Amino acid sequence: MVVDEIRKVCVVGAGTMGAQIAQQAALHGYPVALFSRSRERLDAAVRSNAKLLAKRVEKGKLSQEDCDAALARVSTHTDLVEAVGDADLVIESVAEDRETKRHICQQLDAHARPDAIIASNSSTMASSFFADCIDHDERLLNVHFFNPALVMQLVEVVRGPHTSDEVVDACMEFVRRIGRTPVLVEKETYGFIANRILFIAMQEAFRLVEDGYVSMEDADLAVKNGLNWPMGPFELADLVGLDITQDILSQGHLQTGEDRWKPTAILTGRTARGELGRKTGKGFYDYASK
Ligand code: 3HC
Repeated sequence: MVVDEIRKVCVVGAGTMGAQIAQQAALHGYPVALFSRSRERLDAAVRSNAKLLAKRVEKGKLSQEDCDAALARVSTHTDLVEAVGDADLVIESVAEDRETKRHICQQLDAHARPDAIIASNSSTMASSFFADCIDHDERLLNVHFFNPALVMQLVEVVRGPHTSDEVVDACMEFVRRIGRTPVLVEKETYGFIANRILFIAMQEAFRLVEDGYVSMEDADLAVKNGLNWPMGPFELADLVGLDITQDILSQGHLQTGEDRWKPTAILTGRTARGELGRKTGKGFYDYASK
């Protein structure tokens, strides 16, 4: 499969990431079938994307015509067979649970075209975790987007030991064609590149606060003003979700055996209380009144 043969995209999973990945591809002209088991989730994804694109129209960054066309290019499906049937590239973006992803990969193997590229947006699982679920695993790899996918430029294309050069090249070029900057990760490694750097840095911030050296507000101020990050590590954890942050760290600990990844009480206490960040109205910061 070369990039010109990618004509239709299917995104499996309509959570925060899947919804915006689908919309980003549609903004650049690709018809996209967005799948979720839940009709409510699909409707919420469509509403959220429409709102975000409407803001761009208001700001004069997007014409009403291009906005309408981009929204119309995303079709929504609760039937996986229908959604993947004629897709040339399938991007799975379902929950970060190994068995769930393996199950989806088995279904993709059964129902997608045998030459369709199968890309996983997983942050914590390299495509090798699913290689035995896919016949012709030379078409399997990670294509990892960042949150919010409609804004963040970077996409990591991660070569698995099974992935063909042709598939890697097609995905690198596809990422460029949807207006994003790809980096090629030549070998699978935990966290790939950006998350590996980011989450270890976040751990440092968590420990500095836990050990009483600084308040979280001042740690965020320090990182924003001293390192020019757009958000401090605590604000960013709230955006990513404290559950996802904890999962990335726990998996890092499990997969590498290195203590530096082990989540500490400042995070685990909050996730145990269901304080998961912006999505629940409270994480490190309180959003209820905002
Ligand atoms: N979803 C979609 N778009 C969003 C958004 C969201 N949640 N939040 C803001 N935006 C859009 C706005 O609509 C606006 O778009 P426009 O200019 O085209 O209209 C643009 O982003 C700028 O937004 P604002 O002016 O409201 O706010 P900021 O300038 O503060 O930007 C931010 C917000 C883009 C979130 C910025 O703070 C930022 O870049 N933060 C860092 C994000 C980051 O580091 N992400 C990586 C996380 S790690 C990860 O994703 C890996 C995964 O594996 C977990």
